Amino acid sequence: MSHEAPAVASPSFAGPSRDGSRVPFELFTRADVFAREQEAIFRGPVWNYVALEAELPEPCDFKTSFVGDTPIIVSRAEDGSLHAFVNRCAHRGATVQRQACGNARQHRCVYHQWAYNARGELVGVPYRRGVPGMGGYAADFDPKAHGLARLQVASHKGVIFASFSADTAPLEDYLDEPLIAAIDRLFSRPVKVLGHMRQRVRGNWKLYSENTRDPYHAALLHGFHATFGLYRTNQKRKGGSDRARAHSTGVTFGDDWRQASQSGNIGQDKFVTNYSLAAPSLLEGRPDFNDGVTVSITSIFPCLVIQQIMNTLATRHIRPKAADEFELYWTYFGYQDDDEQMTACRLKQANLVGPAGLISMEDSEAIELIQRAIVRDGREDSFLEFGGLHADLDQDRQGEATIRAFWRYYAGLMGLA
Ligand code: FES
Ligand SMILES: [Fe+2]
Repeated sequence: MSHEAPAVASPSFAGPSRDGSRVPFELFTRADVFAREQEAIFRGPVWNYVALEAELPEPCDFKTSFVGDTPIIVSRAEDGSLHAFVNRCAHRGATVQRQACGNARQHRCVYHQWAYNARGELVGVPYRRGVPGMGGYAADFDPKAHGLARLQVASHKGVIFASFSADTAPLEDYLDEPLIAAIDRLFSRPVKVLGHMRQRVRGNWKLYSENTRDPYHAALLHGFHATFGLYRTNQKRKGGSDRARAHSTGVTFGDDWRQASQSGNIGQDKFVTNYSLAAPSLLEGRPDFNDGVTVSITSIFPCLVIQQIMNTLATRHIRPKAADEFELYWTYFGYQDDDEQMTACRLKQANLVGPAGLISMEDSEAIELIQRAIVRDGREDSFLEFGGLHADLDQDRQGEATIRAFWRYYAGLMGLA
């Protein structure tokens, strides 16, 4: 009789190539890949963005959110401390809090009315001792053993992250220097939330991770920006990444879009010099920063994008729903010291980029075009060599180097490296 340990089942799906330049399409379509991602990534040693502190400024404020596909509640307790716990009743598993956000000293499950406090502790159980002669729980029933499952929580400059894993590095180490600088820049002043938007995309969540690490498509897919000279190939760009190459941040320095000329659009055929906007007020604003940066896109693995597009500031939370579907949840913000004119300008510009605006519609359409076309040939690959395989990640801000880095990091967490 053999006493050998049973062999660990090898994955039945292929991983990306070692250099990240070939990605089998089945990683975007298979339910078993999606299930493994929930364990290895979203419940693994990563920090998942869940909310902004500005969304829960007061004691007992809460917001319902997600870590991967697990529903959670992010909550501020009476003493101001932040907590995150699974939004699933410890009794029989019902969703406890059904509101998107609010203020509640107790979160009460509708099914049998178990009640939890702002720390997720069980504080109320109806008929605990039964109704005369019947029902109830045993004398040793301990409410402390039946709280909502807790996650680790960490916040940097008001951006809240949660983790299921006790093995996750401290948040600042996980983010690393260029990403911390990108967050510090946008959250240097107290922010206020201007509103939310949500969009459903019938595509895999990783197609969105690729999209926000991909400057290559910006001038090509987004015709409006190119047509009116808002995005030009000759604009100065700079970027950075963490040591582990999980995240990416990139900025574009703007000059006056009205001065754009054909010479700034190398290899681009969309720019039309005699076009002008009928309502240029859409693009009017005033700089928030003195650094000349007009666009800043920061992608933090696995599920956060932070944007500054001119005066439109937002977090985008990628919430995977299934292998072929995710929700993108936008939180728009401004600064507490904004005047009315500035707030109006941020909201107006939001129309350009949000779910109903041109940019996001085009990105989600591109993602759905992929998802629809790859359903059958899972072992065929996408091709990611733009910029050359030896491109320096910190220098190459036009190529696909940051996407290849994403896939290498992903493969490591998934045990596919
Ligand atoms: S499932 Fe929540 S109280 Fe029963
Ligand atoms: Fe895009």
